[in-house]
Amino acid sequence: MPNSDNALLDSWQHNAKAWIDAVRSGAIESRRQVTDQAILLAILGRMPARVLDLGCGEGWLLRALDDRGIEAVGVDGDRTLVDAARAAGSAEVHLASYAQLADGQAFVGKDYDLICANFALLQQDIIPLLAALKGLLRPGAALVIQTLHPWSVAGGDYQDGWREESFAGFAGAWQVMPWYFRTLASWLTALDMAGLRLVSLQEPQHPQSAVPQSLLMVAEHL
Ligand SMILES: C[S@@+](CC[C@H](N)C(=O)[O-])C[C@H]1O[C@@H](n2cnc3c(N)ncnc32)[C@H](O)[C@@H]1O
Repeated sequence: MPNSDNALLDSWQHNAKAWIDAVRSGAIESRRQVTDQAILLAILGRMPARVLDLGCGEGWLLRALDDRGIEAVGVDGDRTLVDAARAAGSAEVHLASYAQLADGQAFVGKDYDLICANFALLQQDIIPLLAALKGLLRPGAALVIQTLHPWSVAGGDYQDGWREESFAGFAGAWQVMPWYFRTLASWLTALDMAGLRLVSLQEPQHPQSAVPQSLLMVAEHL
């Protein structure tokens, strides 16, 4: 699947409006029941004053942090989503791709107390981006990543590789999104290679579900 990192971001141009509707209408049950609260608690538990939300989408997490008195800055590579986040009241939302961030071509501020990525690290080549993000954190600060739980979505094929999300079951018109499946070991290796130290790993779960709804990792700037 050549250039799938680009195809992934391109898919958001097509899916942005449907995504905004899905998030804002609370259509994604796992978010409503488990994962929104899980990432909020993980962030609030570290009592940051200033947070960068990587791949902020339409900005729900920026608004949730702002409501709690936390300065929240967003960055996303899709213009429609950035515009939606700004229009919903977030003061600082940057339009930049992860490639631009990794190459130092986009300035989104620095000395953050925390950077979060909520279901937003979906591409193959994440180590240069993670290393660049580390440079935006003050020493001792944390990167909080919530992502698909590899064991819940592996479907019997537990190895790194490109997959496709068709958004079946979501209302609206969607384009297939390529995304990169990563095993747990692969996630931990990527953090390590970027110079980040894992300090917490959670598997947020609904009491009535037999499988975790996500994987949530907290890693610190060494
Ligand atoms: C599943 S959405 C999650 C959005 C938001 N974090 C949330 O929780 O609703 C993934 C987001 O990552 C962004 N994204 C994906 N690949 C990107 C890239 N290469 N550069 C910048 N943004 C990217 C998309 O535009 C999209 O907003």
